[in-house]
Amino acid sequence: MHWSFNPTHWSISTRSLQVVAALGLVATLGLLITPKTFPLEGTPPFDAAERFVDSLMAQMTVEEKIGQMTLFTTDWEATGPTIRAGYREDIRQGRCGALFNSHTVAFTRELQRIAVEESRLKIPLLFGYDVIHGYKTIFPIPLAEAASWDLEAIERSARIAATEAAAAGLHWTFAPMVDISRDPRWGRVMEGAGEDTWWGSRVAEARVRGFQGNGLGQTDAVAACVKHYAAYGAPIAGREYGTVDMSERSFREYYLPPYAAAIRAGAATVMTSFNDYDGVPATGSHYLLTNVLRQEIGFSGFVVTDYTAINELVAHGVAQNEQEAGELALQAGVDMDMQGAVFQRFLKNSMEAGKVSLAQIDTAVRRILLLKYRLGLFENPYKYCHPEREKQLLLCAEHRAAARDMARKSIVLLKNEKKVLPLSRKARIALIGPLADNKSELIGSWSAAGNSNDCVSLLEGLRAASQGVVIHARGCALEGDDRRDFAQAVAAAKKADVVVVAVGEAAYMSGEAASRTELSLPGVQEALVETLAATGKPVVVVLMNGRPLAIPKVVERATAVVEAWWLGTEAGHALADVLFGEYNPSGKLPMTFPRSVGQVPIFYNEKNTGRPYDANSKWTSKYLDSPNSPLFPFGFGLSYTTFEYSAPTVSRRTFRPSDTLLVSVRVRNTGSPAGTEVVQLYLRDLVGSVTRPVRELKGIQRVHLQPGESRAVTFALTEADLRFYRRDMTFGSEPGEFDLFVGSSSAHGQSVRVELLP
Ligand code: NOJ
Repeated sequence: MHWSFNPTHWSISTRSLQVVAALGLVATLGLLITPKTFPLEGTPPFDAAERFVDSLMAQMTVEEKIGQMTLFTTDWEATGPTIRAGYREDIRQGRCGALFNSHTVAFTRELQRIAVEESRLKIPLLFGYDVIHGYKTIFPIPLAEAASWDLEAIERSARIAATEAAAAGLHWTFAPMVDISRDPRWGRVMEGAGEDTWWGSRVAEARVRGFQGNGLGQTDAVAACVKHYAAYGAPIAGREYGTVDMSERSFREYYLPPYAAAIRAGAATVMTSFNDYDGVPATGSHYLLTNVLRQEIGFSGFVVTDYTAINELVAHGVAQNEQEAGELALQAGVDMDMQGAVFQRFLKNSMEAGKVSLAQIDTAVRRILLLKYRLGLFENPYKYCHPEREKQLLLCAEHRAAARDMARKSIVLLKNEKKVLPLSRKARIALIGPLADNKSELIGSWSAAGNSNDCVSLLEGLRAASQGVVIHARGCALEGDDRRDFAQAVAAAKKADVVVVAVGEAAYMSGEAASRTELSLPGVQEALVETLAATGKPVVVVLMNGRPLAIPKVVERATAVVEAWWLGTEAGHALADVLFGEYNPSGKLPMTFPRSVGQVPIFYNEKNTGRPYDANSKWTSKYLDSPNSPLFPFGFGLSYTTFEYSAPTVSRRTFRPSDTLLVSVRVRNTGSPAGTEVVQLYLRDLVGSVTRPVRELKGIQRVHLQPGESRAVTFALTEADLRFYRRDMTFGSEPGEFDLFVGSSSAHGQSVRVELLP
């Protein structure tokens, strides 16, 4: 049945009815010209939407308005401690305008029916969900995708996630997460793009473009929600939900830009973070939510809290009780309360007591209804409930092929001694390890509607592609200290030409509420690798994990190391493609791998200090018991071939603010096979009014080269790329000298010096 637009659903005055009917048409036309970016409120074509929303709001009681500001989870899933039982009655009574964790055409239709048939004003519900790296077809975790350095592929991954989600009744995804993090103890690093601000910003934009497609209101687009605003990725000691304490300079320079980039790319909504920043919890921070977000960045969509984050203002100790917490949140700039029911229970009292104003409530409601309008829900609340689309699109062959491609691109080759990889298809392979014949972990955490049974295990992938024998032995479990299966694993290894051992983390060890103090492989997995290496057979370690690991011994003992993260539905096929050389790995690390937890936080763009590291001098910035250098630097990744870089050259040694500076390097594939290299441009500002990092990433380019082929790779730099927060906190560049490095990682490459003239 197709739901048709019926203005009487909004029992409003006759005059308004005419307006509403006319607006239905305008809305349809509006869809055709919806630009990719979200214009500020009040600019065409959305003034029509505003008139529609205003006429609707004129009919709403305060309770109904507050209902629009209320988001509840259904009882399908929970990502926090409480589930609210009476959400159906809340919908009926107009006390809840949005739901999350409800999806599929059948279920969302059932709930939407309650809203548009049984509630007084029949305002359609908004359905949200954590579609983080795929809906049904699961793509690699976001950290892995960031290792592909392929923005087109990242955008396509988000596009497919949105297409599937929107076909399953959803309107809104709680993604992208754009929190920069320098601390692999923090389990949520799996959900972001790693440690770098420039790259994190590019990935954020690509993912917003992917989710929102050709514009909200298209049936293959969902509204994005950039999260967690702000600085959630920097909790002290990497402990989840922890305090963030950093200088405003660091905040603005390293942590803030990806949120701004996502918003400028059109992200329709923003989610507040759980942490406090400079003493004020983000969910109650007027500075973050109004001064910076609205006034500086120009965000015009709506702000939703994270799960019960308003209630948590009481535990944070900035509000006496939940009512006061709600007032603080609304005044700060929160529009929608996720799961806490604080607005629902207290906001009207607060208004009557004069603590908040109706105008403040109206502002929030207007923002929320505008999104519903843009999504086309007033025209057809079942617009995204299309059983045929759902059946056709979810997990379709095309999506699986894209997931396989993305997975191959996300793999990072960390070590390859004696060219043990790629393996011959005829090789006798002993496939060992707790993740060798596993599906459940490969889709990782935040895997939405993904079903691990749809996932291709490494064993299945290898067996499908091998022309030899694949002997399988588990060796040990992911956790625990049971070594009884080691003997069987060793026996398998002895029968084989090569050992492939799949080790790593369980999916639950990364993601939300998954901070770790150890970055080693859990259980006896490291001992398993050691035991296998002792057989003398070449050992290829395949790592499956959601964060950088500190595993120097494993790396030392392995002949080859392949970082596979959690690759999703097509994991096994993608890994087989790489292990057999069907695909030459091209991924590079988006986060530094430390040698030990003691080095954390560790990141490439550190400052030089007044006593830079000198191995021969005790009184320099260093450790007594460890080098400063990481196990693997940011940007690092090998290929089956080798690439040679010429020294970089520049179009001019000195340049003025109005000039464009070209930096070029010739890259040659000096081996075989053909391969893709991610060429990276870094910059160092030698002298500034404040200390500057030893390197800052400013650009990357992927080049595909045939054996023996060479190509010039050119980057364009302008004065805008040299800007930073100066001593007086103004954002701009300073004349002077800069070193530009072009190379294969943050720790490699030759440099050329240039000078910015005043
Ligand atoms: C809590 C998480 O921090 C957030 O990222 C997520 O979107 C919500 N729960 C909803 O599941």
